[in-house]
Amino acid sequence: MNTYSVKELLSSDHLHKEVTVNGWVKTFRSNRFIALNDGSTINNIQCVVNFEDFDENLLKQINTGAALKIVGTLTESQGKGQNVEIQVKEVIVHGGADPETYPIQPKKHSLEFLREKAHLRVRTNTFSAIMRMRSALSFAVHQYFQKNGFYHVHTPIITGSDAEGAGEMFRVSTLDSKNPPLTAEGTIDYSEDFFGKETNLTVSGQLEAETYAMALGKVYTFGPTFRAENSNTSRHLAEFWMIEPEVAFNDLDANMDLAEDFIKDVLTYVLENCEEDLKFLEQRLLDEEKSKPQAERSDMPLIEKLKFVVDNTFKRVSYTEAIDILRSCKPNKKKQFKYIIDEWGADLQSEHERYLVEKHFKCPVILFDYPAKIKAFYMRLNEDQKTVRAMDILFPGIGEIVGGSQREERLDVLKEKIKALDIDEKELWWYLDLRKFGTATHSGFGLGFERLVLFATGMGNIRDVIPFPRTPQNAEF
Ligand code: 4AD
Ligand code: MG
Repeated sequence: MNTYSVKELLSSDHLHKEVTVNGWVKTFRSNRFIALNDGSTINNIQCVVNFEDFDENLLKQINTGAALKIVGTLTESQGKGQNVEIQVKEVIVHGGADPETYPIQPKKHSLEFLREKAHLRVRTNTFSAIMRMRSALSFAVHQYFQKNGFYHVHTPIITGSDAEGAGEMFRVSTLDSKNPPLTAEGTIDYSEDFFGKETNLTVSGQLEAETYAMALGKVYTFGPTFRAENSNTSRHLAEFWMIEPEVAFNDLDANMDLAEDFIKDVLTYVLENCEEDLKFLEQRLLDEEKSKPQAERSDMPLIEKLKFVVDNTFKRVSYTEAIDILRSCKPNKKKQFKYIIDEWGADLQSEHERYLVEKHFKCPVILFDYPAKIKAFYMRLNEDQKTVRAMDILFPGIGEIVGGSQREERLDVLKEKIKALDIDEKELWWYLDLRKFGTATHSGFGLGFERLVLFATGMGNIRDVIPFPRTPQNAEF
């Protein structure tokens, strides 16, 4: 049937042939030039109609947003801006789009406006470019692990363990919320719930992934993750996608090496495979930043920034060194930070992380050996008895993009930590079993997929890099 995608028509040699293409109208100029796009590429194909040959009623339906089937001859273009165009013989309107009510018109819409039209925003150049990049990154993630001998593990989304402590959880229940069964003490009786116990949506697949690493060696998860924190920031979602590799016999250094190599590999993939979308997004960012004061603009254009990350070694710095830098830095002394750093042991806020990355080191930074007190129970305790083998990777413009650690593999030490945190050991019986039977050094990390997409696309708000964002007070669509 000679039906081709726009991408195929623009990139291959079908000149002088009769071709068919389907897509949506971007613009219709002078009753003559249809810019048609089908999502296969950021570029449109120009379709030239001789309006004298077409019915006026048909022409009236060719509005921005209308879905069309076009049949015509592919020719060299006389005009500027494209090499080929279609001389249209036939137009079939799949479905019109009333210009009075169709919200996505060929003008600049704000990102805030488009968030409220999340079902249609992917028809804009910006969002189609972002979502193609997101898809490419997802593919690159799987490709990286598969070519390096990792197995993909599907960890559960509904979880009965709430011991990870990574964040507030969303309860999963089929009990009647208006009239739940009660225990003798008057609390909700979860033994009557669907699973016979309290269950939640997972905040991380790590604990389950660890069990698989201790048999398959190298595994990774890539799945939806849920956190009910009320953090309404441009970096947090209530539902996000996390990639969690876990590797038996890896110590923290090997874990850092893996994370750095992995990030560089997936960014290289998009640099090599998403050139047109990247160029578009780079220009979008330049345009957006024109209205900002110089100090708030990016140091580098998007593509250069990605290449910079790929070509440079991430700076590895201990938490203790970082605290020394922060304590004596200008914004701390001048009390410009919202949270002033005075003592070792302080938790780092994103303002501190971004200072280290953007102002001090000016490159991605891996912070390691954090105080045990501010990190999860499962991280391996160091000889000093006060720090753990944790690592966070901090990125310019993003802050924390990766959080990981070497895991505590010693049963007695792990039990101590669980006790100190008042966690019920019985809940973690299966996790403790790993330390009883064939325990070994192992490590892993979690990378927030949307934060990676944010970085790679140069966007500024995490709500704009996932199709339908879930945030506090917002679960439309
Ligand atoms: O640092 P986190 O909480 O680490 C874990 O969950 C570990 N279990 C990972 C592991 O060792 N396997 O989260 C990991 C990453 C963060 O660095 C961040 O990129 C992302 O997940 N993340 C979020 N992304 C979007 N919205 C949120 N609310 C996020 N919370 C964490
Ligand atoms: Mg973290």
